[in-house]
Amino acid sequence: MKSYIQISNKIKKFSKTIQVSGDKSISIRCVLLASQAIGTSKIYNLLESEDVINALKSIKKLGINYKKLKKYYEITGFGLTGFNTNSKIKIDAGNSGTFARLILGLLVNSNNQITLIGDKSLSKRDFSRVTKPLEMFGANIKSHNKNLPVKIIGSKFLRPIEYSEKLGSAQCKSAIMLAALKTPGITKIVAKKSRNHTELLFKSLKIPIKVKNKKNSDLIEIKGHSNFKSFNYSVPGDISSCSFFIVLTLLSENSKLKIKNVNTNNSRLGVLKILNRMNANIIATNKRSYKGETISDLIIKSKKNLKGINCPKNLNSSAIDEFLIIFIAAAKAKGVSTFSDLGELNKKESPRLNIAINFLKKVGVKVLREKNNIKIYGNPKLYLNGNFTMKNFRKDHRVFMMTCIAALSLGGKWKIHDRDSINSSFPKFLNIIKQLGAKIN
Ligand code: S3P
Repeated sequence: MKSYIQISNKIKKFSKTIQVSGDKSISIRCVLLASQAIGTSKIYNLLESEDVINALKSIKKLGINYKKLKKYYEITGFGLTGFNTNSKIKIDAGNSGTFARLILGLLVNSNNQITLIGDKSLSKRDFSRVTKPLEMFGANIKSHNKNLPVKIIGSKFLRPIEYSEKLGSAQCKSAIMLAALKTPGITKIVAKKSRNHTELLFKSLKIPIKVKNKKNSDLIEIKGHSNFKSFNYSVPGDISSCSFFIVLTLLSENSKLKIKNVNTNNSRLGVLKILNRMNANIIATNKRSYKGETISDLIIKSKKNLKGINCPKNLNSSAIDEFLIIFIAAAKAKGVSTFSDLGELNKKESPRLNIAINFLKKVGVKVLREKNNIKIYGNPKLYLNGNFTMKNFRKDHRVFMMTCIAALSLGGKWKIHDRDSINSSFPKFLNIIKQLGAKIN
C-alpha cells in the first residue's frame, strides 16, 4: 500500500447514517481498569487501534491475559496487586500519551524496574506532569530530560497525596487517580476541569470516590486499596472521531449526516458547543445514560452561513482534541474567529497550534498569532485551486484527518503523506470517508 493518499475532488452531496469506532479515552481506561479488577471483564466495541492494542500488549507483558472474541475482548485481572513485576520489564506505549501517562499511575507499586518507551513523537512529550505527582506517592522514577524512556520502580510504602492539577489535563488527573487506587489512605486532588471518564468508571465500579464539582475545578477524593470486581462495558462512539465528519458535512453542499451511538459526555462537548455558536445547529437526539456517560445520536446538516466565534477559553479543555478541525470551520465562516490560551495544543502528538497556523496560511487563510492566542479571518468563499502536499507532521493522526477534510471540502489537488498515522486512533477513518462518497486514491 502507498504511504500517501491523493484527493483531487471535493466530496459530492451525501445523506448517510454512520457509526464511528469506540472512544479512545474510554477504551484505554477500560483496559487498564479491567487489568486491576478481580475476575474476567468483557469489553464490547473496544477501539481496535494501535494505541489500544499497545495498551493490551503492555498489560500482557505485566502478566494480565486478554482474549479477543467475536463481539468483545475478555481481560482477566487479579486485583490491585495482580501485575507480575518480578522481573525488569520494558513496555512500549507507541504513540499513545494517554496510555503512557495512565500506566505509570498503576506502576507506583511495581516490585522491579519497569521501563516505558514510545515512538518518536511520544518520546518528545513531557512526562514531568505525571512523574512529579507520582514521586510524591513514593515511587522512584528516572527520566531523560522529562522525556521517555521513563524508568519506574514502585514503593512498598506508598503514601496518599494532596495535589492541585492546574493544567486541565485528564491524563495527569487520571494517572494520579490510578496511583491513588494502589495507595492506602485518602488521596485528594483539586483538578482543573477536564474529561471525567475515569471518575465515572470509578463510580460505576464502586471504587470509593467522592467528587465535588466547582465552577472551574473538581475536588476528588479516592480511598485506596479497595479491590473491585470485573465488569462488562460497551464503549460508545468517539466524539473526536465524529468531529471530522461533522465539519465535512457542515462545509459540503446539501448534505446530511446521522452519527449513531456517540459519547456526548458534557466534558467532551466543546466541539458541538463551539460549532453551534458558529451557527451549525448540530442536534443530539435519543439521549440516554450509560454507566454515568451520556450517549446520543448526532444529526448534522450542511450550513452555508457559519459565522466567526469569539471562543471562550473555558471551552478549551472540552474541545482540546478538536481544535484542528474547528479551525477549518472557522476558515470558511463569515468574520473573524478568536481562540485563546491554546498552549496545550503544542504539547500533543505534534505541535498542533504551529502546524494548524502554517496549514491555514498555506491554503490562503489570514491568521494572526499572539503567543498562544490566534485570530482566523474566515472567508465563506474559500475555494482552492492548484496542488498541495502535506507532510512532516510527526505522523499526527488528527493532522492527517484534518487535512483530508480540508481537501474534501475546500478543493485543490492534494497529496497527503503518512496514511498509516490514522492507525493510532481511527483505522476506519478512510473507509467511512469513502462510504460518504469521497474519492481517495
Ligand atoms: C486524554 C486527555 C487529553 C487528550 C487526549 C486524551 C485522555 O490529553 O488530548 O487525546 O484520555 O485523558 P491531556 O490530558 O494531556 O489534555
